[in-house]
Amino acid sequence: MASLGVVLVAAGRGERLGADVPKAFYELHGRALVEFSIAVITSLPHAGHLVIVAPESHAAATLSIVDAVLPETSSWDVSVVAGGRERHESVRFGLAALGEHVDTVLVHDAARPFASAELFERVIAEVRRTGAGVIPAIAVVDTLKRVDEAGVVRETVDRSTLVAVQTPQGFPRDVLESAHSTAQLHGELPTDDAELVQRDGGTVHTVAGELQAHKLTSPGDLPVLEHFLAANAA
Ligand code: CTP
Ligand code: MG
Repeated sequence: MASLGVVLVAAGRGERLGADVPKAFYELHGRALVEFSIAVITSLPHAGHLVIVAPESHAAATLSIVDAVLPETSSWDVSVVAGGRERHESVRFGLAALGEHVDTVLVHDAARPFASAELFERVIAEVRRTGAGVIPAIAVVDTLKRVDEAGVVRETVDRSTLVAVQTPQGFPRDVLESAHSTAQLHGELPTDDAELVQRDGGTVHTVAGELQAHKLTSPGDLPVLEHFLAANAA
């Protein structure tokens, strides 16, 4: 039976956050960041395969988190694999570990711990409806300028056709695998899976993203995550 696969990438070092642990293991109120995504994903009513891509040093820690979070009756299979040096390599290792029945794949950043179940479902439904790639998008709120090398403003960029994108990003499995193989051949390896798919000739649609899918990048993002943690608990 065709099923859902999720590659949860959690193998980055988190250099911009600058904590003493890899970012996905940074604790918010005593819970590692990656735990929040594991809980949301395995609560989705799908018989799915979750592949968590973690730093090799944290494979055992990841397995204990899975044990603590996953109900015994879960319909999800969960695997943990070691990550690569760059995000695209981690995604590729995750894809390689997916079970053969998986036909739809989501790639999600552990750095976005509060992406909601509704957002996951919106992406899944749109991938299955369109047969194309799907990414969550939100409006850009800042005024945007194009500047030259000296930092001098050359023009204001029209914001109306621009969006900021988030994860989970969803794809038919063959589309994402083909995009990663093609990129390997050409040595073109951006961090964004949707960009790989587009370069490979695929179409990528957008669905409404959400503020709570905010990404932890630097210490300045911590109060934003604290806000959503409190809002979820309320
Ligand atoms: N990621 C990964 N493997 C890598 C690099 C990144 O699995 N080699 C994951 C991160 O764990 C994160 C997501 O990709 O969940 C988004 O990457 P980013 O926010 O850049 O995280 P880090 O690479 O950890 O942070 P930094 O770039 O500041 O070091
Ligand atoms: Mg990074």
